[in-house]
Amino acid sequence: MSSHSVDTVPGTTTRPAGSAERLARIAALRRAGTPIVMVTAYDVAGARACQAAGIDIILVGDSGANVVLGYASTRDVSLDEMLMLTRAARRGTSSVLLIGDLPFGTYESSDDLAVATALRFVEEAGCDAVKLEGAGEMLSRVRAVVAAGIPVMGHVGLLPQGARDASELRARGRSADEARQIIEDALALERAGCFSIVVEAVPAAVSELLAARLTVPAIGIGAGAAVHGQVLVYHDLLGITEGAGAKFVKRYAEIAAESAAGIRRFADEVRSGAYPQPEHTYRIAPEELEELRRQIPTRG
Ligand code: KIV
Repeated sequence: MSSHSVDTVPGTTTRPAGSAERLARIAALRRAGTPIVMVTAYDVAGARACQAAGIDIILVGDSGANVVLGYASTRDVSLDEMLMLTRAARRGTSSVLLIGDLPFGTYESSDDLAVATALRFVEEAGCDAVKLEGAGEMLSRVRAVVAAGIPVMGHVGLLPQGARDASELRARGRSADEARQIIEDALALERAGCFSIVVEAVPAAVSELLAARLTVPAIGIGAGAAVHGQVLVYHDLLGITEGAGAKFVKRYAEIAAESAAGIRRFADEVRSGAYPQPEHTYRIAPEELEELRRQIPTRG
């Protein structure tokens, strides 16, 4: 099924060559106290940009449902669509740890389904690891996928796949009870075998308590500075998405505006005749052109 070169994990599955080293590097960053940088990417150009920028982890997030495919919810993206985006990202990087996000409806109902879906991300898309949302019943899914030789990143706090509408996309853990549950979920995910855990939209003071109790790295998004790493969505941090976005989004570029300006300049030049110039076209030898003219019928 796979065209990738692979590392064989005895008795389990095959992961891309160098996978174990890439994973070990993340654990080493955590031990060294070096902040881990994760960025989402969904295509070859995005993954190349992340690799060139020295990013530690690329997540092909199901946020691609919104920012790439234009769906209203991450619940709308299919497994085949996620695999297509993930394969594209893998073509853009051989050296960055690549994580595939298991989409809504493809892992929750049974351990067997979770393993089958995770295997597709590894074998068909060259992922080093997968991510899934939630704890509780999902702890069994995590254990099963890890037992199949596939590293798992957990996800606590705001779980976008559980949100039925935009009003449910809000911070979590703002009451003591909810915050305690999030911390317990993160610790349970670590015990279940997760190598890292995303903490989304949780008060900084709660994430600090959580991060101090975890051995594996907690990667925050809207979770303050005390976690072991940060993740932002590619389109948000580069200003490709419109609007300010969530409270935690910081823009490091304004690509949407720059793209529109560039396309406008192209359109203006096409309309004015300034583009293309002779240097943008190919030449044909005069004798070939003469021969061509002889071969084609005269117009009219
Ligand atoms: O899909 C995604 O982009 C994510 C990040 C927010 C962690 O899950």
